[in-house]
Amino acid sequence: MYQAAKIADTGLTGAAFHAELELQLAGLVAGERNWLANFANCAALLFDQMPDLNWAGFYLVEPGSGDLVVGPFQGKPACARIAPGRGVCGTALVERRTLLVPDVHAFPGHIACDAASRSELVIPLEAGGRVLGVLDLDSPLPARFTAEDQDGLERLMQQLLAASDV
Ligand code: SME
Repeated sequence: MYQAAKIADTGLTGAAFHAELELQLAGLVAGERNWLANFANCAALLFDQMPDLNWAGFYLVEPGSGDLVVGPFQGKPACARIAPGRGVCGTALVERRTLLVPDVHAFPGHIACDAASRSELVIPLEAGGRVLGVLDLDSPLPARFTAEDQDGLERLMQQLLAASDV
């Protein structure tokens, strides 16, 4: 699918960057409610448009085991399964809150799928009172993610969930 120039090349940063990301996601999911298609395109959008990421994607709760299992993503092959409470992803899942980790080496129990990762942002996905999984973004730069990224991406996940049959 044709995509416009990189948002970062337009000079947009912070909230303006995230507003543009919302517009692009709206275009990608227009007319499509299949969650797998929309999550896959969202992972590709984030990996393509957010500078300095080495991994962008979803871990989804497996019914039965309750484990997080890797879902649509872009980047290097990753750990397939993460138990609740383990790593940044498993911790965000059980605590039901976003975790912005400026230095993954300082996070006890961090799971290094890619040794290049230095900072990480994990956002739980909640719909109808249950947690479906998490969005996981990794960067090779320390302190890559800002409070504005957290705010913008939490909104983007609301938009993605509202646009998809989950
Ligand atoms: N670092 C994550 C594991 C997932 S990968 O980085 C893609 C964690 O500690 O949960």
